Amino acid sequence: MAAAGSFVAFLAVFAAAAAAAACLSAAAMGDGELLRPAGTSLSFREGYTQLFGDSNLALHGDGKRVHITLDERTGAGFASQGAYLHGLFSARIKLPADHTAGVVVAFYMSNGDVYERTHDELDFEFLGNVRGREWRVQTNVYGNGSTAAGREERYGLWFDPTEDFHRYAILWSHDRIIFYVDETPIREVVRTGSMGAQFPSKPMSLYATIWDGSSWATSGGRYKVDYKYAPYVAEFADLALRGCAVGRRACEEPGSAATAMSPAERSAMEAFRARYMTYGYCYDRLRYLAPLPECSVGPEAAAFLPSGDARAAAASRRRGKRHRARVGADSAV
Ligand SMILES: *[C@@H]1O[C@H](CO)[C@@H](O)[C@H](O)[C@H]1NC(C)=O
Repeated sequence: MAAAGSFVAFLAVFAAAAAAAACLSAAAMGDGELLRPAGTSLSFREGYTQLFGDSNLALHGDGKRVHITLDERTGAGFASQGAYLHGLFSARIKLPADHTAGVVVAFYMSNGDVYERTHDELDFEFLGNVRGREWRVQTNVYGNGSTAAGREERYGLWFDPTEDFHRYAILWSHDRIIFYVDETPIREVVRTGSMGAQFPSKPMSLYATIWDGSSWATSGGRYKVDYKYAPYVAEFADLALRGCAVGRRACEEPGSAATAMSPAERSAMEAFRARYMTYGYCYDRLRYLAPLPECSVGPEAAAFLPSGDARAAAASRRRGKRHRARVGADSAV
């Protein structure tokens, strides 16, 4: 959809760091991903480890593709073996189709296992829906244990994420965080002094999970997981970790300019948000009487109600409700 200026620049910087690292003793670097040229990815066995779900995690295609499944017994999940301080983390993901209300697929960075009370987290959460209604995507940011303050945004997508693989990426640098769907940036969090330690600043690992979110995921918990439609299978491919792995040498951080968005990317992001964003915490005056410090009230604000819901999405939900009253369907969240 848009030229991916900063995305490519960022890869190039890490590729350069990888080349520099290759000059050092390869043994000292272990089998680190930094030695791999951009464009390749680690196999599951090389880079990841299963967290839960026993046989509900299955490898395909030479261990390059991972299926995680939710059924009546359990969900499933995995995590990167290494932790990273900044980088670009991505996967191509295909979500389960049909009736998926209550199902949550999460693709995220976290250090909650290391820092119980002061953890950092960057989330993509995919929220299932009733048959015939689309999946919703939610992004969120926590820093230094700021779980009292949710920084959720929610969006629709311009494609059906159950039909094909699409790439979801999190770019995390010292200066900013950018969430991407395919080549389109959908959210940028710029580090501000006022945000302080709530901007994630400690090494994190990459996680992917599928689980039962019946209590909240779809229309605030109204539609629960129906195991009649199980198993729910989420497919991951091309998992990529490009960053400064903790405990490895010679990782050069890209400078601020390398991660900045190009004007084309910025306008693609603005166009996406105007059309597909359905909720923004920065606009939610019911939850935050005063917006959180990093929220700048730009022209985007006019598109949102004091509930944080996009005016357009709320209006189409009202229209849809009248039409769907008989089938009892509602949009997610
Ligand atoms: C992070 O949170 C802890 C616990 O609330 C606090 O003591 C610490 O000062 C915070 N760190 C920073 C850098 O603000």
